[in-house]
Amino acid sequence: MDIQWYPGHMDKAQKEVQSKLKQVDVVIELADARIPRSSRNPLLETIIQDKPSVIVLTKADLADPKVTEEWKQYYRDQGIEAVDVDSKHKKGLHVIKEAALQQTERLQARWKRKGIKPRAIRAMIIGIPNVGKSTLINQWIGKKTAKIGDRPGITKNQQWLKMGKEMDLLDTPGILWPKFEDPYVGERLAATGAIKDELLDLQDIAYFIIGICQEYYPEKLLQRFGLEDKPRETSLEWFEDIGRKRGALLAGAEIDYEKAGEMVVREFRGGLLGRISLERPDDEISE
Ligand code: G4P
Repeated sequence: MDIQWYPGHMDKAQKEVQSKLKQVDVVIELADARIPRSSRNPLLETIIQDKPSVIVLTKADLADPKVTEEWKQYYRDQGIEAVDVDSKHKKGLHVIKEAALQQTERLQARWKRKGIKPRAIRAMIIGIPNVGKSTLINQWIGKKTAKIGDRPGITKNQQWLKMGKEMDLLDTPGILWPKFEDPYVGERLAATGAIKDELLDLQDIAYFIIGICQEYYPEKLLQRFGLEDKPRETSLEWFEDIGRKRGALLAGAEIDYEKAGEMVVREFRGGLLGRISLERPDDEISE
């Protein structure tokens, strides 16, 4: 994560988002499909208030598809439309526009009632750093989309991207911070690479990833690391077997935890362990 968040930066980011919000009809909020809860901004609901919004679960190619469906249902149960996308392979992008337009149906009906001439719906993307905002915008607009000029009363230098005739998208996304001071959240953000590596102990993050795999995806660990299928009680046993199998050893055949940890984290982030979700809607979280 390139941005270091300090109170001053957070304040500035929030004001920037609020000023962009005034120009749009609908907010497209991105969250990482592997950690939808942890990758959302804690204040976003307060900031956007009752503006129509859609949650887009990004990097769905890396998340457990079954759990992603559970998350979408979880949000829909709260009256929030949620869709999932895989920008890397351009999958699911078409549904974002449909979902966003659907959220503005009431607004469009109001225009009609008042005899206001319909115009393209204005949308903006919001998300924490590294959630996939630029990738999604680039893949979504493709090469066909022409930039359209500044509009009266709208911040200069800001461009609108034409998404067909029904929607214009603000070309610069809103960036907000995650709730990284919360250890539950910090651990998950770190595992996905949303926090700078220098700030973390990769061994701890590897333990965390192994712990989740041990509980939900033991077969993925067995397969990826070619481990023997035998009972293992603790994450440490898994960790050590992985280290041994991969030759992450110090003098005297002692496990090189640092090296093994770095390997597990890197392979998880690259999707090499398979599709893994690190949080679920029914996880117990202490407030
Ligand atoms: P941001 O604008 O929100 O900060 O995020 P950005 O699009 O830069 O994406 C952050 C990282 O996430 C990038 O990887 C990007 O390739 C990856 N990413 C974005 N969307 C997807 C997706 O749908 N699936 C997968 N698997 N990855 C995705 P990077 O390693 O930082 O950069 P790069 O080496 O890919 O260029």
